[in-house]
Amino acid sequence: MGWRLESKIVRGARGADPQTGAISFPIYQTATFKHSGLGRSTGYDYTRSGNPTREEVEKTLADLEGGTAGFAFASGLAAIATLMELFNPGDHLLVSDDLYGGTYRLFEEISRNHGLEFTYWDCSKDNLLYHIKKNTRAVFVESPSNPMMKVTDIRKVAALAKEHDLLTIVDNTFLTPYRQRPLELGADIVVHSGTKYLGGHNDTLAGFIVVKNEALGERLKFLQNAIGGVLAPFDSWLILRGIKTLAVRLEKQEENAMRIANWLKQHPRVEKVYYVGLPEHEGYEISKSQASGFGSMISFSLDSPDLAAAVLGKVKLISFAESLGGVETLITYPLTQTHADIPEEMRARLGVDDKLLRISVGIEAVEDLIDDLEQALS
Ligand SMILES: Cc1ncc(COP(=O)(O)O)c(C=O)c1O
Repeated sequence: MGWRLESKIVRGARGADPQTGAISFPIYQTATFKHSGLGRSTGYDYTRSGNPTREEVEKTLADLEGGTAGFAFASGLAAIATLMELFNPGDHLLVSDDLYGGTYRLFEEISRNHGLEFTYWDCSKDNLLYHIKKNTRAVFVESPSNPMMKVTDIRKVAALAKEHDLLTIVDNTFLTPYRQRPLELGADIVVHSGTKYLGGHNDTLAGFIVVKNEALGERLKFLQNAIGGVLAPFDSWLILRGIKTLAVRLEKQEENAMRIANWLKQHPRVEKVYYVGLPEHEGYEISKSQASGFGSMISFSLDSPDLAAAVLGKVKLISFAESLGGVETLITYPLTQTHADIPEEMRARLGVDDKLLRISVGIEAVEDLIDDLEQALS
């Protein structure tokens, strides 16, 4: 039905449990399912292969992203690791040069040992063609990227990739389908750390893959079951519950983020603010053309490494903690936390240095968040 996204977000795939009418989708906390005889099945056999609660969250995400199939995993990295099994030794992937450190570690320290090759390119520049090789099979981008907030023109990249028979994979963690739907922009696969905005409460790890093409969906269903890194029933329910408030959370988070980005911009100790919603941001116009909001992730550079370290110890309402996307505002130090596994030379080129902090803005009163930053920066 043609409901608006906000309504689909609240309703979920089926609206209620078809058997009982329960509005809160039941948690089928079971590992296995009873058969009434040989060759008979309720459609469910074993939770790794399929579980109604997981199916509900998978269908919900597939609907929101405009895909045909969704797959839920125990974490974002479990989802990305499963995705890498689509490729064979000798295959080459083009990857945005700014990305979550854990994804880089997976590619370089695991997938590379299994024969995959990776080239990291500046996804905010128009030079994809230059890097395509005979064995290139896919393009993998984060947009906006973590932590430098680079924006990729997804339409353009997906169109070029298609011309060369490459799959386009977009990590949509920072914007969620409420703000950006890469499959509608031409991408083939969307991946998420559901731990972040989808769950929204900093209480659950989760990962998702959504695809448009049915054959690709079949292959991923096989890989999900064969590898087994699935999302547990209870965690599936927590994500389902989290998703219901995604639109209102994100709207408030974005409103707060815009106020904080503008406040940081005028602070004498702040050298640079990286927030996609600021008109001076390099990716602002592209972002407006492909997303309906800017998210709530801000990185900023201070004028001294000592001040950056001091801020982390002085914040009171804001927590110094990894992760992002939840209702609580968190601040991190990408250099030694989320991006510790990125080589120094690459970090230096990107600007991930000892003066850079990253904030995931939550839903607290923005005046209190600004007061907290003010005292921490003084
Ligand atoms: C953009 C992005 N993708 C993937 C991941 C990995 O997800 P998870 O921590 O759920 O394994 C993260 C984690 O921070 C992330 O920020």
